[in-house]
Amino acid sequence: IPVETFDLVIFGGTGDLARRKILPGLFRRFLAGQMPHDSRIVGAARSDLDAAGYREMIKDAIAEFGGSEKKETGQIDAFLACLQYVPIDAKGDGGWDDMAKLVRKDVVQAFYFSVAPSLFGDLAERLHKYKIANKKSRIVVEKPFGRDLESAEALNATLADHFREDQIYRIDHYLGKETVQNLMAVRFGNILFEPLWNNHYIDHIQITVAETVSVAGRGAYYDRSGAMRDMVQNHLMQLLCLIAMEPPSQFGADSVRDEKLKVIRALQGVDPHHIVRGQYDAGKGTTSYRQDAENERSFTESFIAMKCHIANWRWAGVPFYLRTGKMMKARSSEITVVFKEIGHSIFSENDNAHRNILSIRLQPNEGMDLQVTIKEPGPGGMRLVDVPLDMTFAEALGDSDVEVTDAYERLIMDVIRGDQTLFMRGDEVEAAWAWTDPIIEGWEARNDVPKLYDPGSSGPEDALMLLHRDGRKWREIK
Ligand code: BG6
Repeated sequence: IPVETFDLVIFGGTGDLARRKILPGLFRRFLAGQMPHDSRIVGAARSDLDAAGYREMIKDAIAEFGGSEKKETGQIDAFLACLQYVPIDAKGDGGWDDMAKLVRKDVVQAFYFSVAPSLFGDLAERLHKYKIANKKSRIVVEKPFGRDLESAEALNATLADHFREDQIYRIDHYLGKETVQNLMAVRFGNILFEPLWNNHYIDHIQITVAETVSVAGRGAYYDRSGAMRDMVQNHLMQLLCLIAMEPPSQFGADSVRDEKLKVIRALQGVDPHHIVRGQYDAGKGTTSYRQDAENERSFTESFIAMKCHIANWRWAGVPFYLRTGKMMKARSSEITVVFKEIGHSIFSENDNAHRNILSIRLQPNEGMDLQVTIKEPGPGGMRLVDVPLDMTFAEALGDSDVEVTDAYERLIMDVIRGDQTLFMRGDEVEAAWAWTDPIIEGWEARNDVPKLYDPGSSGPEDALMLLHRDGRKWREIK
């Protein structure tokens, strides 16, 4: 279904995100017939380009970073014709009058701040000073949204000086992933799971986001962040919220976000003994974290594993184990819900050791499987085995239906539609920092040194021990 005609200004329009994700994504929406051809995309950045130069740059970017749509050469010119460019001085007056002439008042307006957060205030102020933005304009901001509670509050306050909360779209691209949304469909669209979704039936939950990439090339940013700020405070926290929240009364922005916020606020402080920080070592032909970050004395973590608790009736006593890291064995994001053992086995003594395990694979190979216990086929008597009820989405639904829409393109279309459900509200972001701040401050106060782990592994040994101590084990990363 096409969205309304829009004008989208991308500040930072020549940057990495714009070239890798935003513009190739918009081109795909264009090809899908969702982006009206009279829409305008205005790149704005410092570089002294004109529209023709910008179109050339984006054509190259789509050729380099686009997917299958690269072949659609016939349509690329029509798409590029929607692009404009304005050289802009974020802190001065240059370019703003030109911008005012280009951005129409009678269509949906969105301003994407794909720039350093220190510029948010300058941009917001000028959008008003030059009468470009109005009461209906939407603005889109990216992570990192602050690096602690104080800076996040300051950013929220800066934005609130110029825009209402219902105009602000804070992106966490994990919320745009197909399977992440499917999590909600699975939980709230089936009668099967919700009655069991609590501490009476669930033993524990694991959330793993393992990556094979290193931090090379972005060491300067990463070394000041680490896995906690870069991944846990946002992406893993959002996954945790969707798994743990109460059913919202409807699938609408505030209902969903209210419930997520309650989860974050109910998270208990984490015992330092329940956290393992790691840093990848050099491997055969690969450099170490410290080399990649160009900081020989860095104590920043590229891996983290932790055990958390949510203090409410539903989850009291159920550990949530979170784990994420770079340079790991495989790229694999998975949520695993491990149900309790049955109370009494009618078969044989050992047969109560079987469990139902629901695993939700976010990427790659999106899908779910539910481990169920059945009789081993054959005449060998009543012997039980665990088998997966597999639902790989691509197989179940047919490839064409699940051609995975990139998170960014879906989220940008939601901005144009005015749907904030998959965006973070200001209070959520602040609550998430309020939970992570004391943990990070604890490390800093203790000069905590991360444990080294081998590239291509599952992280430091201690991370395995975190579960072993509780008589549990991590799902294998594969
Ligand atoms: C980003 C982080 O937000 O998410 C990166 O800054 C990380 O460090 C990336 O690699 C992971 O995203 P995806 O979509 O590849 O899982």
